[in-house]
Amino acid sequence: MKRVAILISGGGSNMVALAQSMLGDHPARPCLVLSNVASAGGLAKAQAMGIPTAVVDHKPYGKDREAFEGALIAAIDAHQPDVIAMAGFMHILTPKFITHYAGRMLNIHPSLLPKYKGLHTHARALEAGDTEAGCSVHEVTSELDGGPILGQARVPVLADDSADTLAARVLPMEHQLYPAVLRRFVQGDRTMVVLP
Ligand code: GRF
Repeated sequence: MKRVAILISGGGSNMVALAQSMLGDHPARPCLVLSNVASAGGLAKAQAMGIPTAVVDHKPYGKDREAFEGALIAAIDAHQPDVIAMAGFMHILTPKFITHYAGRMLNIHPSLLPKYKGLHTHARALEAGDTEAGCSVHEVTSELDGGPILGQARVPVLADDSADTLAARVLPMEHQLYPAVLRRFVQGDRTMVVLP
C-alpha cells in the first residue's frame, strides 16, 4: 500500500478529494496532511477524516529557508511517505527540498500549463481573451510549475466570466483530475490524464 503525504496551506478541497479517492481497492492511502499555516481550514477536515496532521509554520524561520525545509522534511519523513502531493501549498520550495523528493512529488496548478505559471492564473487567462482554461497536474521539479505534465482538465471560458466564476468552474475539475493522476502515479503509470 503506497503512502501519500498531502501538503496544504488553505481550505484543502483538493486534499479532501485526494483523501476521499484513496479508499477501497485504491493502491494508496493518505499518511499525513501537513500545512505551513497553522490556521489552514484543511487541517480540521483531515482530522475529521482520521488522517494524521502536522504544522510546520514557516514564519519562525524568517528568511532561513534551509532551516524551514529541514523541519518540513523531518515532519514529512516521520510518516514515511512514498509520494508527496502538493495541494494548494503556497510556499516556494528550494531545489534542496525538491531534490529530496525527486520523482515522487506532484502539484496541481490552476492553468493549462505551460501557460500562466505562477499566480493569478484565471485573471491572466481572461485578460488574454482565452476561450478555454483549466488545470494541470505536474511532477514537481526545480522549475516553478514547470515539471512534466501528467494530467490536464479543460473548461470553457464564458463571455461574462470573472476570475472567481472561472475558478469556480475549474475547481471541481481539479477534484476529478488530481485523484485520477495520483491513482496512476502511485502505480508508476505516467500515462497522461485528459479531461473531459
Ligand atoms: C486550487 O485552486 C489549486 O489549483 C491551487 O490552489 C487552490 C487550492 O485550493 N493550487 P484547495 O486548498 O485545494 O481548496
